[in-house]
Amino acid sequence: MKSSEIRDKFLKFFESKGHAIVPSSPVVPGDDPTLLFTNAGMNQFKDVFLGFDKRPYTRATTAQKCIRAGGKHNDLENVGYTARHHTFFEMLGNFSFGDYFKHDAIQYAWELLTEVFKLPKDKLWVTVYAEDDEAYDIWHKTVGVPAERIVRIGDNKGARYASDNFWMMGDTGPCGPCTEIFYDHGPEIAGGPPGSPDEDGDRYIEIWNNVFMQFNRDEAGVMHKLPKPSVDTGMGLERITAVLQHVHSNYEIDTFVNLLAAAKKAVDAAGAGDCDQASPSLKVIADHIRACTFTVVDGVIPSNAGRGYVLRRIARRAIRHGYKLGARKPFFHALVPALVAEMGDAYPELRQNEKRATEVLKQEEDAFFRTIANGMEILEKALATGTKQIDGDTAFKLHDTYGFPVDLTADVCRERGVTVDEARFNVLLDEQRQRAREAGKFKMAQGLEYSGSPTTFHGYEKLIHETAQVTAIYVDGTQVTEAKSGDDAVIVLDHTPFYAESGGQVGDTGELRNAVARFLVEDTIKIQADVFGHHGSIAEGVIKVGDTIVARVDAEKRAKTMRNHSATHLLHKALREVLGAHVQQKGSLVNAERTRFDFAHNGPMTLEQIRKVEAIVNAEILANEATQAKVMPIEDAQKTGAMMLFGEKYGDEVRVLSIGSSRELCGGTHVQRTGDIGLFKVVSESGVAAGVRRIEAITGDNALAYLQSLESTVNQMAGTLKATPSELPSRIGSVLDQVKSLEKELAAAKGKLASAQGDELFAKAVDVNGIKVLAATLNGADVPALRETMDKLKDKLKTAAIVLATVNDGKVSLIAGVTSDAITKVKAGELVNFVAQQVGGKGGGRPDMAQAGGTDPAGLPKALDGVTDWVRQRA
Ligand code: ALA
Repeated sequence: MKSSEIRDKFLKFFESKGHAIVPSSPVVPGDDPTLLFTNAGMNQFKDVFLGFDKRPYTRATTAQKCIRAGGKHNDLENVGYTARHHTFFEMLGNFSFGDYFKHDAIQYAWELLTEVFKLPKDKLWVTVYAEDDEAYDIWHKTVGVPAERIVRIGDNKGARYASDNFWMMGDTGPCGPCTEIFYDHGPEIAGGPPGSPDEDGDRYIEIWNNVFMQFNRDEAGVMHKLPKPSVDTGMGLERITAVLQHVHSNYEIDTFVNLLAAAKKAVDAAGAGDCDQASPSLKVIADHIRACTFTVVDGVIPSNAGRGYVLRRIARRAIRHGYKLGARKPFFHALVPALVAEMGDAYPELRQNEKRATEVLKQEEDAFFRTIANGMEILEKALATGTKQIDGDTAFKLHDTYGFPVDLTADVCRERGVTVDEARFNVLLDEQRQRAREAGKFKMAQGLEYSGSPTTFHGYEKLIHETAQVTAIYVDGTQVTEAKSGDDAVIVLDHTPFYAESGGQVGDTGELRNAVARFLVEDTIKIQADVFGHHGSIAEGVIKVGDTIVARVDAEKRAKTMRNHSATHLLHKALREVLGAHVQQKGSLVNAERTRFDFAHNGPMTLEQIRKVEAIVNAEILANEATQAKVMPIEDAQKTGAMMLFGEKYGDEVRVLSIGSSRELCGGTHVQRTGDIGLFKVVSESGVAAGVRRIEAITGDNALAYLQSLESTVNQMAGTLKATPSELPSRIGSVLDQVKSLEKELAAAKGKLASAQGDELFAKAVDVNGIKVLAATLNGADVPALRETMDKLKDKLKTAAIVLATVNDGKVSLIAGVTSDAITKVKAGELVNFVAQQVGGKGGGRPDMAQAGGTDPAGLPKALDGVTDWVRQRA
């Protein structure tokens, strides 16, 4: 039975038991920042188990794409070294949402395995949660599994997630006791039954886990009862396929046989020659191409943080294993087509994204191949000392300079029985991050110490605050009690309408004033998380701590900034619509002039895509909907589907901005209605780093000014060319055609002129011992004309030595030609050099034809006169 048939049979079986067949969700969970990657079939039903979400069905079945390469469930290190571990795998599952429970779940599983798949009953073992007598009794009394093949396994305090028979998705979320079904691959394979000391061998393989979902674990570890007892099961497709195809390793099933062959071919072609078919490295590569491709297809791009970093680590691990086998140039990306051939039918998204996935992986591979050789050399040197532990400094250098994630270094070391000093590595990494943070926050902190009351921000509702009190003043970084006219200072207020730079939006400008003083605010920056520093200079008078002042934000600048900020949210949304869900914000800067938005995407956008984005954003603007900002608990925000940046730390309460159809967490200031943005125009699209693009765009009156200036340029051109703007393209085309044909005519005229002169010259040739010698200047000729005339004269004069010159813009061009029957006596290279030296130049070339230039036309007549004598000395 092929793996595709097994997948089908599973789904159909549960369909026949009243389950809805639900498609796999992406490997990147869209709305769950607690989860790095989809790690189980139940992920997409998390909210259904928790009672937050309702579906039209209470029973479902899926074949789910899963990744276990980071976070709580991580099998990365085992891949390649066991028969059963993968970074990417397919999980077959059946789910009951408050419908059936233990009895039916166990009986369905048994029926499928023994009646549909026809597995011998005596090869099956089961485990139950130690205290779950109910499950034990169902297996033993109802199903009839003998007691010696039922193992009770206790909760070892959550230390291991897979085999303690209490399953949880992560640190929080739905969980419950489980019962697992094992298949005995037979005594020829090493390993003991579940619960025994050598249970980690490959003989007894867990093929199916049935979880009896009963609790929701919160952050404090407290278990809350779920609204209704439910069922969540998971069977690894690769494992059951191995059993049904009578092989003892997942890597021998149909899917992997083909992938392994493709991997060997690619690695061999990249320099390995004929690598060992049985090498674990090939398994690593065949496994990792699945994880990497599916991850890219679902929108992740290799990077240095979050999901992108997990992807980078898996890809680099695969590449390193190829390198180990002898590959010396990129091979990994070349496996994408083989994977698409294997799995494209079941997962059509693979086919749709084949090209993009190949390109993204190739870029990553190109980058790593540039440093891998040097990195390996350093690592080999460190290993050659015979040490049992690689020091943290070396591991850090490999990470920082050569792009070796520390687990990759550990992977190499493990093969030699060596460990890595990860503690020291982490210290160095922390130090580096701290340095980066300090550099980034330099502007924010400025070393200002403050112990007064925090600043209350009023800038969402108003731009003027009439009664702000000065709580601190700093001049030259020192706290003072007053500042006077001419001082540059930082002023802290207890209340302010000024927005302090954050979330990509610049700080407000404006003024602080009272009856006696005026302070110009040039920037507003946070001194501490909730202490706003107004940076600027005192234009008049004296300001003292304790003074009450009026704080007034520059309304026009703020309005422009808000337009750009709100437009950025619409832009982000439109980019995802036009380019795909892999588009993620990588950086942004919003000020009064423009918005600069960096995002993950591979390769430049086409003009058509940019136009589409512009059209979508402007349609949202025209709809003129009211925008909305709501503060709510983060869980509620997740439910609205608001965009959150993975890896960002959000507080418990977040501010959700709804602008048009976009929804994002944001603390910035925004327009009241989308129509306030006026007009949105992209002005540039460019690349800033591998896989990261940058769009710059403008709005409102800036967009108008931009279009007006383009219009005046066009009008100016139209005026010069005496055409209307719409006639410009054809007019410019015809002007260019005209220039081309004039150039042609000119060249022809020059040729004619030269050849007319050539005819005259023919008569002036002097015979020197049978060689016709001629040296002359052709007026108005260019070098091609000189050459053409030279050819003609050689033809006519038969045996000849000729020098032709022309002078253009004070520069001499020379060409010398000698017919083949004369080159034994006279060499064109020497001849041209003889003349060139006298006009401030140098030259050379073949014996029959040579060229030179000079900068001193004054010497030319005498030099040409001397040619006859020069030839005579040689002829
Ligand atoms: N969610 C359960 C598992 O992943 C079925 O093992």
